[in-house]
Amino acid sequence: MAQPLVSPSILSADFARLGDEVRAIDKAGADWIHVDVMDGHFVPNLTIGPMVVKALRSHSTKPFDVHLMVSPVDPWLEAFADAGADVITFHPEAGPHAHRTVQAIKALGKKAGISLNPATPVEVLDYLIAEIDLVLVMSVNPGFGGQSFITSQLDKIRAIRQRIDASGRAIHLEVDGGINPETALQCVAAGADVLVAGSAVFSGGADRYATNIAALKRGGT
Ligand code: DX5
Ligand code: ZN
Repeated sequence: MAQPLVSPSILSADFARLGDEVRAIDKAGADWIHVDVMDGHFVPNLTIGPMVVKALRSHSTKPFDVHLMVSPVDPWLEAFADAGADVITFHPEAGPHAHRTVQAIKALGKKAGISLNPATPVEVLDYLIAEIDLVLVMSVNPGFGGQSFITSQLDKIRAIRQRIDASGRAIHLEVDGGINPETALQCVAAGADVLVAGSAVFSGGADRYATNIAALKRGGT
């Protein structure tokens, strides 16, 4: 199995020192930087806006992987694109028009991702797979870091891997929530190629970040 990319979620970083934290995970081997944007409406938490993304942009040259948990989503796309997002992922339930949102992200020159909540069926991808660059499987209900991995999502990852392979397109399959070295291994075996991890990367202080990231990647060697 190929090694997965690791996209640490800065939701678990020290918010008082976010710039330092982004530099630290960059240096520790993060492939992407995952930014969880929550609106207190689509999900029961409130986090980061485009101004923070813009402020962090100069702290890393790695791709910014922006996960929008906001509804409606379209009014925010341009602000996050301008702030420096490289991948913009949204939830189809937050739309309201998922295909239009994908088109809008692509028109801004960014990669477009679709995120599936634990109860969202894979069929939501049927008429989007020809357009998207990434599928993000939520292996916890969105809103908070530090939750336990929902094992039923492994079947969904396998089903999406088949659809991606059948499409012949280069689409990343990313998993988010409850990722640790053990669940990382299960996700990669099921077909994931990008792992989001908050708690598992940021535990133990900056001296541990490289070891923590390496432990998640080892799952895939
Ligand atoms: C949850 C977020 C996740 C979360 C992952 O809504 O999308 O990115 O921060 O955190 P851990 O890795 O701690 O489950
Ligand atoms: Zn996320």
